[in-house]
Amino acid sequence: MAKPGLTAMVVAALALVVAMVATLAHAEADDPKKVDAWFNGLSHADRKTTRLHFYFHDTLSGRNPTAVRVAEATMTEKSPTLFGVVNMIDDPLTEGPEPESPLVGRAQGFYGSVGLESMALHMNMNLVFTTPEYNGSTLSILGHNPALETYREMPIVGGTGVFRLASGVVTAKTYFLNLTTGDAVVEYKVIALHY
Ligand SMILES: *[C@@H]1O[C@H](CO)[C@@H](O)[C@H](O)[C@H]1NC(C)=O
Ligand SMILES: *[C@@H]1O[C@H](CO)[C@@H](O)[C@H](O)[C@H]1NC(C)=O
Repeated sequence: MAKPGLTAMVVAALALVVAMVATLAHAEADDPKKVDAWFNGLSHADRKTTRLHFYFHDTLSGRNPTAVRVAEATMTEKSPTLFGVVNMIDDPLTEGPEPESPLVGRAQGFYGSVGLESMALHMNMNLVFTTPEYNGSTLSILGHNPALETYREMPIVGGTGVFRLASGVVTAKTYFLNLTTGDAVVEYKVIALHY
């Protein structure tokens, strides 16, 4: 039997380097379909995958806000990106984009404006589910949210209940934004890996 030639070994090594570079190059936030395709290319032994889709209602205005400003920086000039502002949230999550759409859970936590030069939020929240299948289970999100971009990708850093030992990714896309009040409805797509 012939030994593998040097050329074959060099070709294999080059293929490995190309594959590694392709993996490392995955840094930009993508369309959720592309995130899904990337995800399907991975192998996850003995883990379950759950995909969820819902709308996040962040209401700052009116008589019943679900997001309230709890802190802001003292600055000589008002920051155009609201740098230094922190909002505490208990935002409803619904099946559809309308406020009266069935509730699936709530997003409880806070987000802060962390961009000096461009609008960027640091999200720190738990998605607390209330549907029969996931009642009381949570997913924890900790991530960078450049809120004015089309798609934002944030990591799932853990979970409880059905979602114990969760990891995964969420994609957020603004469905509605009132620039005057800051009220927003955001579409969330979740891919969670758990046991
Ligand atoms: C969810 O759990 C709470 C607390 O245990 C319970 O009061 C509620 O009825 C449950 N809801 C559903 C939809 O199972
Ligand atoms: C945004 O909110 C302001 C103040 O409540 C309201 O007058 C305006 O109609 C709203 N705009 C949209 C697009 O909903």
